[in-house]
Formats: sequence, structure tokens, C-alpha cells
Amino acid sequence: ANPSILILAGDGIGPEVMAEVKKIISWYGDKRGLVFDVSEDLVGGAAYDVHGKPLADETMARAQEVDAVLLGAVGGPKYDNLDFSVKPERGLLRLRKEMDLFSNLRPAQCFDALADFSSLKKDVVAGLDIMIVRELTSGVYFGMPRGIFEENGERVGINTQRYTESEIERVARSAFELAKRRGNKVCSMEKANVMESGILWREVVQRVHDEEYPEVELSHMYADNGAMQLVRWPKQFDVIVTDNLFGDILSDCAAMLTGSLGMLPSASLGAPMENGRPKAMYEPVHGSAPDIAGQGKANPIACILSFAMALRYSFDQGDEATRLEKAIEKVLADGVRTADLMGPEGGTPVSTVEMGAKIIEALDAS
Ligand code: NAI
Ligand code: MG
Repeated sequence: ANPSILILAGDGIGPEVMAEVKKIISWYGDKRGLVFDVSEDLVGGAAYDVHGKPLADETMARAQEVDAVLLGAVGGPKYDNLDFSVKPERGLLRLRKEMDLFSNLRPAQCFDALADFSSLKKDVVAGLDIMIVRELTSGVYFGMPRGIFEENGERVGINTQRYTESEIERVARSAFELAKRRGNKVCSMEKANVMESGILWREVVQRVHDEEYPEVELSHMYADNGAMQLVRWPKQFDVIVTDNLFGDILSDCAAMLTGSLGMLPSASLGAPMENGRPKAMYEPVHGSAPDIAGQGKANPIACILSFAMALRYSFDQGDEATRLEKAIEKVLADGVRTADLMGPEGGTPVSTVEMGAKIIEALDAS
């Protein structure tokens, strides 16, 4: 059977950027014989409008079966006042939780043509290609006890950082596996100097390394120093593995080394399925961008790069992923820019559809 993809385009610019991804999926079928079995369904506000909830049970079931889910974005002003339990974001959270997507991959990759876009010096970011692996389903965002309590006549807000050995092991494995396909280097970040959960994190990552991945180069760093090093000289890193909280902050920081929100892809991976592929969902980092939705202005590259990640991490098509990334690089080098990539010097931006067409042209020439 052909590998299967479920497309959940969602709201706002989600369907606009996903339309360009669909053309690229078709291109792979027509020109490279890489045929995918593609189905489509609703998520977020679009699903709420039809089902009264942001993710139908049938959609959830389908997501569990396919080899990869591609998600656009969810949310928008129309849904801002909905009850918490049916907010568009709940659809996303349900997917992540029920698929148990514990490993969140956030690359920070700098296309040379956009190096001027970074707030850092060009030589610090030119050619940058690092990957942050953030634990996504545990840690302080989920640990119990949590809440706001009354204590000695005042209120106290409590959250609990909590990691089991097996939770650390599985995300560590995911980072080492990635490193083997990249620069063969992992840096693990925690605060073992002041947190017991950090001591356990460091110990378990080291053990997984020694027992299963001795050939990968492993180092450890305190997360605060990590933040500093990311800005000082990010090219020292290949794969960074860290917990949910530090990963949230460090990945946003790393992402902005390289420019626009419209350029940033992500992947969330879970345990291997029967066919050996990991449960997986791929999505751009950006949201539904209601301010530009429906105007043909959205940059489709973040969503297209998310599909490139799917080629690499779900479908073992690393060469084809590189082909797609190179096509994007070529288009950017030619000076083709959506509005979000225009510098202060200005110029004429292309539309979402034109950017997609240019990338397909570059694929044709590849
Ligand atoms: P946003 O990411 O949608 O937009 C932030 C800014 O970046 C806006 O000015 C937008 O126009 C611009 N932008 C975002 N993606 C772009 C692209 N591909 N091309 C060009 N410009 C782009 O974040 P915001 O405004 O905070 O949230 C808007 C809605 O999206 C809210 O309902 C929010 O809850 C939802 N959201 C959904 C996410 C998801 O589906 N994963 C993630 C973040 C927000
Ligand atoms: Mg964040």
C-alpha cells in the first residue's frame, strides 16, 4: 500500500498554505513516483462549525491509523469566546495527547538568502542547521500537584516538574536516532545544578547514550548557559534535547535566529507503529494568522518544510526532503519573497500561490 497522509488544514491561512503543500504532494506522485494515499478532514474551528467540537472522533481514529498527519493551523477571532472545552486549540491538544506525541522537533535552519533577516550577525547564522528536541507530554506543564491553594492566609501557585525514567529514555532515544541521520552530536540541557529532575534527566540520557548510542557524541549543558550559547554561537550544536519547559523557551529562541514565523516547520513524533514508522504529526509553527487570512499573503514555506520533515522522518525519503529544501533555497536565492520576507528596502511580494508555483518550478528543474 502507498504511505498514507491525513491532511487537517484547519482555519485561517491553514487551508491557504496547505493548498500549496497538496500541489507538492501531487508533484512527488507525478514526477518522482512517490504516491501517497491522501485523505482530508476538519480540525479546529472548521470542525466545530460542522460537529460542534474541534475534532470529531472519526477524525481522531483516522489520525491514529495514518502514517503521518499534516496540520495547517487552528483558531481565529470567530472562536475566541467559545467554551474552553471546544476551543479550536483543544483539537490540536487532543491529537497530541491521544497519539502520545512525546518528541517535538523544532529545526532552526538558516537559508543563506535570508541570513540578513536574523537579528544576529550574518556569520553567526549563515548555514545554521540545528534541531531542538523538546519533550512534549510531561514535565512541569502536566505534573501533579498543581493549582492555586490557600496557605498561611495567602494564596500559593503550584506546578510540579516531574519526569519518570521511561519518559526521559524515550525522548533521549528519539534525539540520538535523529543525530545519527544528521551531525551525530547531541547536547542535553537541564538544570541538574538546582533540580533533582535535572539530575535524573542527565543520568538517564547518559545511560541511554552509553548503552545504545555510544557512537553519538554527547554533551550536557545547563539550560541557562544553553540559552546564552544559542545566541553566542549556535553552530556549535547539532541536536539539542531538553524537557518541556526549557524546550518551549529554547526552541522559540532558536527559531528566531533565522527569521520569519512563516519559515518554521515542526514535527511531533510518538512511539513506533507496527510498520516501524513513528506516530507523527507535522505542522508549521505559526498560527492561523487572522490578520492576513483570505488575502493570499501567507508564506506557505513553513508548511511545505513541514512536509519535507515528513518525507525525512516518516517516509525515509531523506534525499527527496533535501530536494525540496534545495528548491526552496533556490527560490529564495532568486529573490522571490512573500510579504513577511520583505526587508525594509521593500520590493514586490509574491502571493501564496505564486510562491508555491515557484517552488514547483524549482522542483521541476532539480
Ligand atoms: P500567528 O502565528 O497566527 O500570527 C502571528 C503573526 O505572524 C501575524 O502577524 C501573522 O500575520 C504572521 N504570520 C504567521 N504565519 C504567517 C505566514 N505563514 N506567512 C506570513 N505571515 C505569517 O499567531 P497569533 O496571531 O498569535 O494567533 C492567531 C490565531 O492562531 C489564534 O487563534 C491562535 O490561538 C492561533 N494559533 C494557532 C496555532 C496552531 O494552530 N498551532 C499556533 C499559534 C497560534
Ligand atoms: Mg512557545
